Amino acid sequence: MSIFAVTAALPGRAPELLAEAGEVRAATGAGRLEREQLLALVEGVDVAVTMLYDRVDDEFLDAAGATLRGVCNVAVGFDNIDLAACARRGVVVTNTPGVLDDATADLAFALILAARRRLGEGERLVRAGEPWQWGMDFMVGHDLRGGRLGIVGLGGIGARVAARGRAFGMEVAYFGRRESPHAAELEATRLDLDELLATSDVISLHTPLTPETHHLIGAGELDLMKPTATLVNTARGAVVDEAALAQALREGRIAGAGLDVFEDEPNVHPGLLELENVVLVPHIGSATVETRAAMAELAARNAVALARGEAPPTLVPLPS
Ligand code: DGY
Repeated sequence: MSIFAVTAALPGRAPELLAEAGEVRAATGAGRLEREQLLALVEGVDVAVTMLYDRVDDEFLDAAGATLRGVCNVAVGFDNIDLAACARRGVVVTNTPGVLDDATADLAFALILAARRRLGEGERLVRAGEPWQWGMDFMVGHDLRGGRLGIVGLGGIGARVAARGRAFGMEVAYFGRRESPHAAELEATRLDLDELLATSDVISLHTPLTPETHHLIGAGELDLMKPTATLVNTARGAVVDEAALAQALREGRIAGAGLDVFEDEPNVHPGLLELENVVLVPHIGSATVETRAAMAELAARNAVALARGEAPPTLVPLPS
């Protein structure tokens, strides 16, 4: 049994688990592989452990060949994987849901606080050695208590952000294609997207990137938001039209934004870089020592199960 994985990038017990299940074909180093190197390394493997930046498409599947039975993504998101192409070839796909919910919710809430209370702007001012003085109207932001937190996608991560919002005295509403099982406990009201956008003080995005959610938040949706509202995105960059967001922020049509993800990572729309009212961090939602070890271990357990012909713990449903 042959397993491809960039083992040096997998913390915790993951490399050891993989080695017990088969012969591991590893790249040297822990960084992102060049496409040619990736395609060469997956040739003839039974299972491939992939990162969210590895594109798994027909080219990848051709390179791997007929031996490939599964792709185990070290991420909850799987927009880097062509599910239909995998389904056509009988290749199973797994991801790492659950284990990163709290870390990502913490980061989303950090962005909410940072954007609502102008932390990035304040820090830049102090570090620049600019003169400043306490004043009644100096660097005022917005309270969280008493505001509405609008969650787009009340799944595992969205629900944890909502729980943090409740602890800060916010009322929770959400938009989702179906009723969320978390709604009752969070006393969250389900609204259509337009109403959620128009009535929320903070909008936090927790939807996967699919053809339906690409640019879900564009110029029209931003126009619906309150001028005092904040948009936070820890999902995938392309859920938001970045150019439209930069324009809305520049024109003060919304108060602020906090972004962990970008349309063309690691590039950021230049219009956003110029603005004070947006907090920008480099896709670190799940970046804690504990969570990254848990993600790597879950991906490894999926790979081991596939290598042994068993059912993997966290299968991604494939289109029929
Ligand atoms: C994911 O898992 O999809 C995140 O974006 C990275 O942790």
